[in-house]
Amino acid sequence: MSEKIIKVNLKEKSYNIFIKENILSSSGNYINQLNIGKKILLVTQNKVPSIWVQKVKESLTKKGFKTFVLVLQSGEENKDLSTLLKITNFAIKNKFERSDSFCAVGGGVISDLTGFAASIYYRGINFICIPTTLLGMVDAAIGGKTSINIKEGKNLLGTFYQPRIVIIDPRTLKTLSKRELLVGMGEVIKYALLEKTAKTRFSKNNFFKFLKSKRKKILKLNTKELLQIIYYSAFVKAQVVSKDEKESNLRAILNLGHTFAHGIEQVFNYKKYTHGEAVSIGLCLASKLAFKENLISKQMLDSVIELISDYGLPSKLEQPFNLNKIIKSMLLDKKNKDGKFRFILPIDKIGKVKIVSDILVKDVKPLFQSF
Ligand SMILES: NC(=O)c1ccc[n+]([C@@H]2O[C@H](COP(=O)([O-])OP(=O)(O)OC[C@H]3O[C@@H](n4cnc5c(N)ncnc54)[C@H](O)[C@@H]3O)[C@@H](O)[C@H]2O)c1
Repeated sequence: MSEKIIKVNLKEKSYNIFIKENILSSSGNYINQLNIGKKILLVTQNKVPSIWVQKVKESLTKKGFKTFVLVLQSGEENKDLSTLLKITNFAIKNKFERSDSFCAVGGGVISDLTGFAASIYYRGINFICIPTTLLGMVDAAIGGKTSINIKEGKNLLGTFYQPRIVIIDPRTLKTLSKRELLVGMGEVIKYALLEKTAKTRFSKNNFFKFLKSKRKKILKLNTKELLQIIYYSAFVKAQVVSKDEKESNLRAILNLGHTFAHGIEQVFNYKKYTHGEAVSIGLCLASKLAFKENLISKQMLDSVIELISDYGLPSKLEQPFNLNKIIKSMLLDKKNKDGKFRFILPIDKIGKVKIVSDILVKDVKPLFQSF
């Protein structure tokens, strides 16, 4: 099967995303074309099956690269300063130079950490990204946001630092748990709800309808459909990032459902709901608000909720929950102004969104009660 290529267009920082079944076995060929130093540090995690890293390592070795593997502990709690320093210390000890590279092989945690380390090591070393979770493939690996968590909050320290290349092998998803796969599905559904505003070439087709009609095949990890949803989603993200790298305007639409999701995740200490589950509830709440504000029809609201439920994702919060705490946490969102919410909301028809300001707390609270 031929590869799919998406270009992220950022002038001298432009790069390609290559998507192909079993591409890991030839990843060395793609990386070799970057004209970079021959030393590569592969950064991965203990829960990422070692076969994936081995495939990359073997392919790089065939092309004459000298590879090093650093295995970190899995888990969001390890996206911290001490783990970041493990990467940079390893590189210093092994005399990595500026023309050499750090390569993330894993999910969003490993790409955020490795990208951050690459951006500060000798003021910037090449960064290569090989995502192995669906969330990584459709979101975290694309767009150059890197970060670590500190005790004051998630993703508070970070940089914008674009990778030189992103290599996506859908085969790696075969070892991912269903729950982790669904984390990514939450984001995939989000792209279907905003792709027309991103003005992608799918606008004429319908990504939403595709997700609806091919659900069984997607959940069975059928290669053809999986490749398509990764391609569609990564394409939408790449288009948005190419137009607005540092979130001055358009990139904000990618936060659809996320103000709700962050509030929910924080109040439940990132335990009860995965990010994808919280995003799914957030997408339903945003659609509900859009309906209340006469931006979308009841029929459209129902189809969003139905699609999310069909994928086995939650459309509402389970009782009991502390609504005041969730609202308080949501009010900390950087997009808000003067104690009023600023949301990205769906409008008109599926695929279109806009930023809506001046939403009051009293308009938001009832959304959580009545589904
Ligand atoms: N930079 C961005 O733009 C951006 C966007 C979205 C999310 N993120 C970040 O991404 C992180 C979440 O990413 P995630 O959902 O990929 O979680 P993750 O990186 O923690 O991966 C989930 C789990 O799956 C394991 N794993 C990875 N690949 C596997 C595979 N192929 N088979 C089996 N297990 C595998 C990991 O070791 C981990 O235990 C968060 O820290 C979030 O802040 C960043």
